[in-house]
Amino acid sequence: MLKVIIDNIEIQVEEGTTILQAARMIGGKVVPPAMCYYSKLKDSGGKCRSCLVKVVKGSAKDPRPVPKLVASCSTPVQDGMVVENTLSAEVQEARKGVVEMLLINHPLDCPVCDQAGECDLQDLSFGFGMEETETIEPRREYPGIDIGPLIKLNMNRCIHCYRCVLAAEQLTKKRAHGMLYRGDTMEISTFIQTAIDNDFSGNMIDVCPVGALTDRTFRFRSRVWFLNPMDARRECGKCSGKVVAWMFGKEIYRITGRKDQFGEVEEFICNECRFEKKDINDWVIEGPRKIKRQSVISSNHYEQMKKGSIIHPIEGTTEPQE
Ligand code: SF4
Ligand code: SF4
Ligand code: FES
Repeated sequence: MLKVIIDNIEIQVEEGTTILQAARMIGGKVVPPAMCYYSKLKDSGGKCRSCLVKVVKGSAKDPRPVPKLVASCSTPVQDGMVVENTLSAEVQEARKGVVEMLLINHPLDCPVCDQAGECDLQDLSFGFGMEETETIEPRREYPGIDIGPLIKLNMNRCIHCYRCVLAAEQLTKKRAHGMLYRGDTMEISTFIQTAIDNDFSGNMIDVCPVGALTDRTFRFRSRVWFLNPMDARRECGKCSGKVVAWMFGKEIYRITGRKDQFGEVEEFICNECRFEKKDINDWVIEGPRKIKRQSVISSNHYEQMKKGSIIHPIEGTTEPQE
């Protein structure tokens, strides 16, 4: 086992563990934000730089500090390493710069964007963003693209994290898209469309950290904080059938995978569960979903209500579930 200290907290981890994974084992504020790393997707990380940290001591054998900030998602822990995240002013300053770059072409779409309320970029901007932009150049613009009948791509909001490319490659076994061009002209290839008839293509929506890929069966139907997320399950021959049903009264507005405190799905779900099963009779409703991450959704108090009851999203009254 290797010993690492992150923000003055010591933890022992196995060889091969990255600084980000070690920080996640500690939990809380020590954990750097991650916009491109996704533990369930092989080879993710190393793209967005939001997880930068300072290594003030390289290892017990070589205690010299690492001169530049490192991406915690792709830097393995060394025995005796000492790392600073929240304690380093340099890291905080660098993260502000990263957010400024991520937002340089990003539209002010939050009031109409389906990701609002569960958007990693909103959280990052709230923590590290500047109030005003320093640029005067026009932002790049792309028309919205319907990728088949179920998914919408709004390239304006894409931060080039590469997660959807990896999800298409690793879940659909039919990779036919990737990134075109480089720099600020980089865009997700619309050949993504050819992966769309696969049973697991809808997971690209769940892994997207922003509102660039959205569910066309849910778009504009409700803000997520008006809905009650409920753990639900069904017998499914393609996936585990364990999902979150986002409900308004007794109506299911959308189905997503179950996400952990880092915003990552616990298990990928199939398109049939996600897009076709919107009737409450299709599901066994287990009870309110505990949203573990900090989110406007978890500020509701529905968890305290009687198990099995459904809360009216506007009036706050409860109806027993039949
Ligand atoms: S992706 Fe996030 S930050 Fe961008 S418009 Fe949508 S909610 Fe706002
Ligand atoms: S569409 Fe979403 S998941 Fe794909 S690269 Fe852009 S931000 Fe990442
Ligand atoms: S999460 Fe580490 S570089 Fe993006």
